This record gives sequence, C-alpha cells and structure tokens, in this order.
Amino acid sequence: MPETKDNRARSRDSVANTLIVSIVLSLVASVLVATAAISLKPIQERNEEQFRQKIILDVAGLYSPGADISELFSGIDTRMVDLASGEYTDAADAGEFDAIAAAKDPLTGINIPPADDIANIKQRARVAPVYLVLDGAEVTQVILPIYGSGLWSTMFGFLSLDPDGTTIRGLRFYEHAETPGLGDQIDRSDWRAQWVGKKVFADDDQPRVEVIRGFVDQNSVDAVYQVDGLSGATLTGRGVTKLVQYWTGPHGFGPYLAILRSEESADD
Ligand SMILES: Cc1cc2nc3c(=O)[nH]c(=O)nc-3n(C[C@H](O)[C@H](O)[C@H](O)COP(=O)(O)O)c2cc1C
Repeated sequence: MPETKDNRARSRDSVANTLIVSIVLSLVASVLVATAAISLKPIQERNEEQFRQKIILDVAGLYSPGADISELFSGIDTRMVDLASGEYTDAADAGEFDAIAAAKDPLTGINIPPADDIANIKQRARVAPVYLVLDGAEVTQVILPIYGSGLWSTMFGFLSLDPDGTTIRGLRFYEHAETPGLGDQIDRSDWRAQWVGKKVFADDDQPRVEVIRGFVDQNSVDAVYQVDGLSGATLTGRGVTKLVQYWTGPHGFGPYLAILRSEESADD
C-alpha cells in the first residue's frame, strides 16, 4: 500500500503508539517527581528543624519576627532524658529523635497502661528531649515537648518551666486539628498568656494545674493552678489538662521534674 498522508496519520494514532507515548510520559513524570522529592528532602528537613526551633524559642519568649533562629537557638542546650529515672541519658541522639516513631518501636517505646494513659496516646518513647535555655552556664528555663488527644486530633506542643520544675513560663501548641473558633482557641495569645506563672505542682508529685470550666476566681487559693476554660471547647480544654498532667506527672517527665525541684530546694 503506498504511504499516504492518511496512512501515516492513522499509524501515528494506533493503539500501540498511544500506549508507548503514555508509558514514556509516565516514566519521565515519575523520574521528575522522584528527583524533585529526593532533592527537596534536605530542604524540607531543614525547614522542619527551623520550625521546631522557632516554636521552642517562642514558648521561651525568645523569638521575634525576623530574628536569626539558628543564632538564638545556639543558646539552648538539647539533652535527652530517660523518663523512668529522670536522669539525662546519651542513649538517643536528640538531633535524630522522632518521638512518635520511637514510641511505636518496641525497642525504644512502651505501651502505656490504659489507667495511666490520661493523655490518650497509647505508647510513648522511653526517652524524650528537653531544651535548656541558658544564660551563660545557668539554666533559666526548661522546655518539655508534650502531646496528647484533643477532641479531634493529637495536639503537639511545648511547655516551658522555670528551673524550679513547677512554675510555668509558657505553653504553645504547634500542631493540632481542633475546630477553628472552638478548639483552636488553645492558640489564642491571651489564653496562652494565662499559663505564665501558674504552678504545676502543689506539695506532692501529682500535677494540679488544669483548665477549668468558666473563669478562674483570682481570690481562690487554687487560682495558681487554674486557667480559664475555653468557651464552647470544654473537651479540647480537658485534653490540654490531661496532656499537661500526663507529661508533668509520674509517667512523663515527673521523675525529671522531681530532681529539678529537689535540686532547687537544696540550693535554697
Ligand atoms: C462541628 C463541631 C465542632 C466542634 N469542635 C470542637 C472542638 O474543637 N473542641 C471542643 O472542645 N468542642 C468542640 N465542639 C463542641 C463539643 O461537642 C462540646 O459541645 C463542647 O466541647 C462542650 O463545651 P462547652 O461546655 O464549653 O460548651 C464542636 C462541636 C461541633 C458541632
């Protein structure tokens, strides 16, 4: 058959040609996506690290927009704590540490007995980082990573304490999916400001600080352990109470904080 324009067009539109073109295009697209993913990974990791550092600086009250985050963060010493003993440990590298992955791994995590799991997180790592804000050699704040269930989501944040291991310097969440206008009031700066100066502990090792329903009676002897409730978001507020109490309690950083408190009273 003589090769005509019509024949050439027909063979170009054949099923085989269409398949070859789609396969080649998919291959090229996959290679492009894979290359982009691999080359962007270090940038993504650097951004995540910067974000984490920014939040830690913010909860410590050290962040201001435009500040050099790496420079400011160099004044913070990151240490790993063995949660059971409360002692510092070198068993894990803080830079590489992933709390959720470590919690799920039977070698590095534990299952939390349901009766103790007030933050509703099921597992936790055996170790956790703490961030020590330094002024020269002196520790001025101790920042703990905390997380637990809200109404809809796991809420991740940081709690900053004075070196006395009980006076709160700041609370800040950086990841959650609570409802805008309701549960997300945990991000309101005026509500977060209420935490500053509150005490986690009374005279024993059981955390007392809590988000109450309604408004704190400033004349009450309990006011120092209480923060106003969030209107229409009691359940998220209760989640915050539980996760703060879990992480400062005997199954979280309690043993570590008890050491800080005993060192502080020995200094007095
Ligand atoms: C669509 C929808 C979203 C809600 N989101 C939240 C939330 O993020 N956090 C929360 O505590 N309550 C939320 N609530 C309200 C709770 O169901 C519950 O009524 C509330 O926590 C009770 O708080 P209150 O006693 O202060 O009203 C939501 C309700 C609806 C219908």
